[in-house]
Amino acid sequence: MTTTRPALTIDGLLAELKTLATISEAEPPVVTRVVFSDADMRARAYAKGLCTDAGLSISEDAIGNTFARWQGSEAELPPIGTGSHIDAIPNAGLYDGCVGVLGGLEAIRVLQKLGFKPRRSIELVIFTAEEPTRFGIGCLGSRMMANVLTPEQARRLRDKEGRGLEELRTAAGFKGPLESVAVPEGRFHRFIELHIEQGPLLEQEGIDVGLVTHIAAPASMRVVIEGEGGHAGGKLMPGRKDALTAAAELILALESAAKSTGAIDTVATVGVCEVFPGAVNSIPSRVRLETDVRDIDGARRDRVLDALQAACDEVVGRRGVAISTELVNADPPATCDLAILAALEESAVAAGKTYKRMVSRAYHDSLFMARIAPVAMLFIPCRGGVSHRPDEYASPEWIGSGVHVLSRTLAVLAS
Ligand code: GLV
Ligand code: MN
Ligand code: MN
Repeated sequence: MTTTRPALTIDGLLAELKTLATISEAEPPVVTRVVFSDADMRARAYAKGLCTDAGLSISEDAIGNTFARWQGSEAELPPIGTGSHIDAIPNAGLYDGCVGVLGGLEAIRVLQKLGFKPRRSIELVIFTAEEPTRFGIGCLGSRMMANVLTPEQARRLRDKEGRGLEELRTAAGFKGPLESVAVPEGRFHRFIELHIEQGPLLEQEGIDVGLVTHIAAPASMRVVIEGEGGHAGGKLMPGRKDALTAAAELILALESAAKSTGAIDTVATVGVCEVFPGAVNSIPSRVRLETDVRDIDGARRDRVLDALQAACDEVVGRRGVAISTELVNADPPATCDLAILAALEESAVAAGKTYKRMVSRAYHDSLFMARIAPVAMLFIPCRGGVSHRPDEYASPEWIGSGVHVLSRTLAVLAS
């Protein structure tokens, strides 16, 4: 690949990112794009249109994972994959996932403009439902590609309204058998995901790009507490079985378990607390908690889950409530591929970018792609480490650096 770059700007990419952000279930600048919602479908159409304009050929699998292929001269070779997701949690910003999809497309367009001819095909992947919002489990599309979530398990998934994955994906136009989503190892030669860091380190240290060596191990446990409802005035405090006060103890027990591992890498969050019936003058009879526990050390993460289970058992005995727990997922961490990291490093040096090796504390589709292909991730800074919020921000320079390093790396790997 030539090292002399014509004057390429990423103004087009920035405009596309902004346009994509306007396709939202919430009032801009807030981005909410839950899988298979109208906004998700319109965003997919927009992204696919851009890929088609770039001459890529598009295919989709039965769960809606989308593959946009730039055909290499040796088309039979497994391709180099890049990409991420465009679904967004409620009240999100515009960079999480989208930088990896539209930035991946931009990296391909840069190579096209430079006259590069790939030997291996380069395939941009838009994964379905990286975010767990609708079905309670993250990385749905990549998880199914790696067959970590089987078709039978997928068919049992329901959203909060009780609508099944099967109904929703077919209504969205993805009708093939779910059995066809899993792909064999070797389907991709290598896979690289560009993403914002979602943490503060790169910005604080003034570093252009992060080369991700490991992806932390995420787990989620759902906890349902059944107490006894009743009148908030009429029922006296002795003998109450308030499901929410029981839940409060569990939330604090989880926080304490995560803080007491002695490792800064252990994190635990209760992001969902649904109270039934949810009336100010009614004692909560049922509470549903969704917990998120992560660590770069899977065994240490599991000890925190055990502590949560022990707290549940103890609270049942003491408060007389009933508690059921369901382990939604407990995924192992992933290790990135040394050869891709070396290629990323070489590209960062050649592009004149500063870099550091680092761990991803957030999970990504790469966690599951790592089961079927060598992967690595390329991080760019985000302001204040802020993510999963509308004020998430990555500067044009940061995005430009990421695209530059990604495009060089794709060129090296596809040659
Ligand atoms: C992905 O969005 C995550 O929660 O890490
Ligand atoms: Mn996210
Ligand atoms: Mn993401």
